[in-house]
Amino acid sequence: MKDKIYVFDTTLRDGEQVPGCQLNTIEKIEIAKALEDLGVDIIEAGFPISSPGDFKSIVEVSKAVSEPVICALTRAVKEDIDCAVEALKYAKRKRIHTGTGSSDQHIFHKLKTTREAILERAVWATTYAKNFVEDVEFYCEDAGRADLEFLARMVETVITAGATVVNIPDTTGYCLPEVYGNKIKYLMEHVPNIDKAILSVHCHNDLGLATANTMAGLINGARQMEVTINGIGERAGNTSLEESAMIIRNHDVGLKTDINIKKIYPVSRLITRLMRMPVQPNKAIVGRNAFAHSSGIHQDGMLKNRENYEIIDPRDVGIPESLIVLTARSGRAALKHRLEKLGVELSKEDLDVAYEKFLELADQRKEIFDEDLLQIMNLQGTGRILEIDYLKVECGKDKPARAKIILNKNGKHIEAEEEGNGPVDATIKAITKVTGVDVRLEEYLVQAITGGSDDLGKVHIQISKDGNFYYGFGSDTDTIHATAKAYLDAINKL
Ligand code: KIV
Ligand code: ZN
Repeated sequence: MKDKIYVFDTTLRDGEQVPGCQLNTIEKIEIAKALEDLGVDIIEAGFPISSPGDFKSIVEVSKAVSEPVICALTRAVKEDIDCAVEALKYAKRKRIHTGTGSSDQHIFHKLKTTREAILERAVWATTYAKNFVEDVEFYCEDAGRADLEFLARMVETVITAGATVVNIPDTTGYCLPEVYGNKIKYLMEHVPNIDKAILSVHCHNDLGLATANTMAGLINGARQMEVTINGIGERAGNTSLEESAMIIRNHDVGLKTDINIKKIYPVSRLITRLMRMPVQPNKAIVGRNAFAHSSGIHQDGMLKNRENYEIIDPRDVGIPESLIVLTARSGRAALKHRLEKLGVELSKEDLDVAYEKFLELADQRKEIFDEDLLQIMNLQGTGRILEIDYLKVECGKDKPARAKIILNKNGKHIEAEEEGNGPVDATIKAITKVTGVDVRLEEYLVQAITGGSDDLGKVHIQISKDGNFYYGFGSDTDTIHATAKAYLDAINKL
């Protein structure tokens, strides 16, 4: 029998504190519904006293979702708690998350008070919140650096005052997994009334240990994990939901969650799009390269048996398939596999010849696509190949941006002109018009390689069509040109 771990999602609160990731109420509702579908148990919808926008979002999220508990964050202050009570008015199931500092660093140097006064405040806040809601979670901020005996006293005191959940945050991402795990173990063993509440783990990623610490806490007795989608959060972020949920599923640690893992990737994409925060390509589970194989030895192993190089089936988390990327490091097995997918069967001798040609081209390019292979094989392309012949974009503050594009579609010139809300929008609209291919732009990322103003701009794009995702890449000293190349690269893969 496995123990259930309650999944407390704080993407809309700790996640939303990231600069540039602010969401409006409509976006928060869309995310809250997606989180409900994903199967999270608690949604921390915001910090209502912090702004009227946050307050309104909690009200609207409370109306929009019915399954998960809706939680609002407060300090241990009357105005905050009153405000949270008001914001949670429409929530079917509600929780107030109040708390204060627990480390001497916070008590003496932030709150400028004493341990005894902090305990009094903790009891007061819990008791006050309890007047309004049954479910009160107390956070012992900076518990990662708190004195263990004092932390145990604080946990015991707030449980006596009525806390149903006690959060032990590693606020600064300081702990080692063993230390954090032992902290939870100590609390489980030394707090006399620990059976009256659930311990919660809330870890930050400053040393890249958030997920490891979360797992250490759960293995040692915590039964709630506080996480965000894509690990988004202040500074280096929070524990990522997808990593923890998949670890719990993949390892026999006697734990389970109610996460519907098939929804992981679609929710990850939604967060990336609405929060405008791209996921690093090598991010576990949801990064662009998480299921992409490029070296010859790995590709060969994958083609023999996927499990040789994958511990998760990408389809389980909502990613359509693993990728075998054809590059100069690919071997014959990968080339043969891709050619067979294109309907080309070769004898061993013909494959050797094709492989030589493939390597010649691959040495000049970053990646080899189906169209390139068909050309290598002297077969006609599928008619989908699109290349830029001409692109001119005018933009300025006084008028809408305007893009004119001429494409070469298998030797034929086709052109279009479009206006847009900025040069990127105008260029993409012109490409959509000229190709007639309408897709959804999921991710758009521009990077400078060395940082100088004369630098080469690299653009990564992700588009989706009919639930499938395609990547495109382009580079140029002109970032708009790089954008057009990347967009066409993605469309060419459709
Ligand atoms: O990291 C932290 O300590 C927090 C608390 C406010 C729960 O986010
Ligand atoms: Zn936090």
